[in-house]
Amino acid sequence: MKRRVTKAIFPVAGLGTRFLPATKSVPKEIMTLVDRPLIQYAIDEARAAGIEDFIFVTSRGKSALEDYFDHSPELDNALKKAGKTELHKVLRSTNMDSGAIAYIRQHKALGLGHAVSCARKLVGDEPFAVILPDDVIAAEKPCLQQMIEAYQETGGAMVAAMEVAPEKTSAYGVLDVLKKDGRVLSVKGMVEKPAPGTSPSNYAVIGRYILTPRVMQNLENIEHGAGGELQLTDAIAYELTTGRDIFGYEFEGKRFDCGSKDGFLQATVSFALDRPELRGELASFLKGLDLSDTSAG
Ligand code: UTP
Repeated sequence: MKRRVTKAIFPVAGLGTRFLPATKSVPKEIMTLVDRPLIQYAIDEARAAGIEDFIFVTSRGKSALEDYFDHSPELDNALKKAGKTELHKVLRSTNMDSGAIAYIRQHKALGLGHAVSCARKLVGDEPFAVILPDDVIAAEKPCLQQMIEAYQETGGAMVAAMEVAPEKTSAYGVLDVLKKDGRVLSVKGMVEKPAPGTSPSNYAVIGRYILTPRVMQNLENIEHGAGGELQLTDAIAYELTTGRDIFGYEFEGKRFDCGSKDGFLQATVSFALDRPELRGELASFLKGLDLSDTSAG
């Protein structure tokens, strides 16, 4: 049976404290890698995977995000008049059709699980994707598309997974893996931020999910977990207690944690080096840097 996934939730209501003071007035998702905001990478990935309905869970101070997807007639006309066709095309790619995008508020930052549950009425009775825009994944085939293709075979709930160094597992949701078949991992448990030395595997959950309406119901039934937040991981893991399947998908591609400063900087350099018009100068600048004193910090 083909299971179509046409709705995606983008939880963007976090406080973004790791980027203060910038995020005092600029939403984290509007920060740019080279010249495109994080949210544009997420939207492009969703579109490539066939997503038609885009649901943003936002909060106070995120109006720049709503404006970003609006039409901009002045810019539009100016670029057209000046014959700047390429730039005009770029600008048009940021537009969303009327009705394709919905914004819903999370009034208090009560965690990712809570943010997702705010969209329950908009999702209705369909499977849906969740994309965290601060996980940027560079891949030949966009990560969500890889997952949706795998999901056609597996059904169940699916999370993106990536192997991390053992000492890093305590920063992630981690999978307890029963077996691995190609890139698909059958999962028998999930733990949010396991204490050092207790992690069931090195497979960390990354910010792409395909979930069923049942996970939404679970969010209403479970207690607040690690850090007092309503954990999405717990709501997904709850599926196992009712005999339903969870899968990890070990995606092909390179993931950057753009919610952290070092991940964001690495992504900036990497994406800039991928741009032919920037590569030469940037590469020679990087080669010329004196990196002899990088031990500190
Ligand atoms: P993070 O854990 O990165 O938190 O959230 P954050 O608030 O964005 O950033 P820091 O840690 O304070 O720097 C992961 C994703 O979940 C969303 C965030 O917007 C981000 O996309 N989120 C988190 C919510 O939408 N609501 C929440 O209550 C928490």
